[in-house]
Amino acid sequence: MTNHIRETDFLVLGSGIAGLYYALHVADHGRVTIVTKREAHESSTQYAQGGIASVLSKEDSFESHIADTLKVGAGLCKEEVVRAAVEEGPRHIQRLMDLGVAFTREEHSSQLDLGREGGHSHRRVVHATDLTGQEVERALLAAVTGHPNVTLLEHHMAVDLLSAAHYGQENACFGAFVLDLQAGEVLTMLAGNVFLATGGAGKVYIYTTNPDVATGDGIAMAYRAGAAVANMEFFQFHPTLLYHPQAKSFLISEALRGEGGQLERADGTRFMEGVHPMGSLAPRDVVARTIDAELKRTGDDCVYLDMSHLDGGHLERRFPNIHEKCISLGIDMRKEPIPVVPAAHYCCGGVLVDEKGATTLKGLSAAGEVSVTGLHGACRLASNSLLEALVFSARAAAHDLEQKSQPPPEVDPWRSGDATDSDEAIVVSQNWQELRRFMWNYVGIVRSDKRLDRARRRIELIREEIRDYYWNFHITGDLLELRNLALVAHLIIESARRRKESRGLHFTIDHPETNDELQRHNTVLTRVDGPSKR
Ligand code: FAD
Ligand code: SIN
Repeated sequence: MTNHIRETDFLVLGSGIAGLYYALHVADHGRVTIVTKREAHESSTQYAQGGIASVLSKEDSFESHIADTLKVGAGLCKEEVVRAAVEEGPRHIQRLMDLGVAFTREEHSSQLDLGREGGHSHRRVVHATDLTGQEVERALLAAVTGHPNVTLLEHHMAVDLLSAAHYGQENACFGAFVLDLQAGEVLTMLAGNVFLATGGAGKVYIYTTNPDVATGDGIAMAYRAGAAVANMEFFQFHPTLLYHPQAKSFLISEALRGEGGQLERADGTRFMEGVHPMGSLAPRDVVARTIDAELKRTGDDCVYLDMSHLDGGHLERRFPNIHEKCISLGIDMRKEPIPVVPAAHYCCGGVLVDEKGATTLKGLSAAGEVSVTGLHGACRLASNSLLEALVFSARAAAHDLEQKSQPPPEVDPWRSGDATDSDEAIVVSQNWQELRRFMWNYVGIVRSDKRLDRARRRIELIREEIRDYYWNFHITGDLLELRNLALVAHLIIESARRRKESRGLHFTIDHPETNDELQRHNTVLTRVDGPSKR
């Protein structure tokens, strides 16, 4: 493979809400290169339905949003971070509207229509019907790609971060190796600032709401480069993925329950009453665990979300995308319940950042789902993640603009070694399936010491096999994603094994109580043996 060196001032990895909003803030100040591994819009952002949580009505208050976030976060949120996110939220919603984002207005007034979701004590979710992410992504992409300082590289995949520790210097990041997926060449991209916005890792589980790009690349790259990673045991399972053989990863938004939808069994009886005072609108960890228990108890394949008692016309207008999808599969939610199951949805763990979005590596900042700011703690409040991405990518941009970047050291070119083209794609697909399945079975909604030990043994075998394969063959996008997923799985398992209690999204039958005395802290993992040099 040929090695090309390119330079930029701001290297942005990822083109979801976090990457694009950061790019928008730095674009007037230098050359910006956005690297993204598929088409620019392909991201979790694109599929966000419910909306963005923010205090936008007189009946609501910052204190109430803060209290709801802290409660759901189960003792691990950083209060000052929660306050910052909540108080800065409305200004970023206004900025989005200034960029042309068309949020839905109330039917008979010009007020923003505010939805409600699990764990929220007020209506505070601003949305564009049930296509919020698509609308935000559209407007941000238009604003960013129109800027003369911005270069967008689609079908380019970051392979690894360039870290000064490779060269025996203070641990800092100064760029990334990037694989041009179409040309098959590796570029060495040098940058004054690197911004990690590669999103989540839902593909580590066999059932997920996430798109295919969510393979935890940023978390894996940052860990390999020596950055601290935190709270990987807290993986959020969304209670309501559409259950249908022809529906791949289609979410049924929590906003439906916000409008009065009720969860019920196949026989029409409801099961959330008596479990939590908020019933079907309880926080996600509670609802997902209850559904999981129901499915195990009854042996049924799914539970149901009933909307049929609500105004059909309103449902069609409020949820056009979900209505259309359901109708295409022969389900009319105005008349019959929607079959649903829980699925992996949001990675609350990730690369540890401070309140300005700075990671523990100089020159590397991060925001969005790849990061841990302290907003979500042990469980994320619904629709707080788009909010977090806005607030902390803007903060990271402000921080990076203040920094004086160092000149990069002499860089060793990318080495392919003796790699030959792989004809063993089967190794990738076999490990890919196996990993995602045992993560679901052993490291899913309910865990135990024994299951975590089993998962640990299996992941180490798979990682060993991938390591051999990685060094012996030319890299491909699939192989890189598998390697990253395997590392992310390892980090989830290790973090879960360390948490000897149940808290928020981490529930284990061997330690069902919360232990505030000994366990009320983040689980932080940092690679001890330094980054590997390719
Ligand atoms: P993403 O939007 O996922 O963007 C990541 C980007 O990085 C993508 O462009 C991807 O291609 C790129 N990338 C990844 N790896 C690499 C690599 N190695 N090299 C180059 N590029 C790479 N949250 C809410 O607050 N409200 C909601 O209503 C809501 N609904 C949701 C519905 C669904 C179906 C899903 C899946 C999530 C939802 N979430 C919601 C969560 C929220 O959408 C995400 O957490 C958020 O969009 C993440 O934004 P991001 O910019 O961090 O990452
Ligand atoms: C949803 O619309 O149910 C998803 C909201 C979120 O993940 O915050």
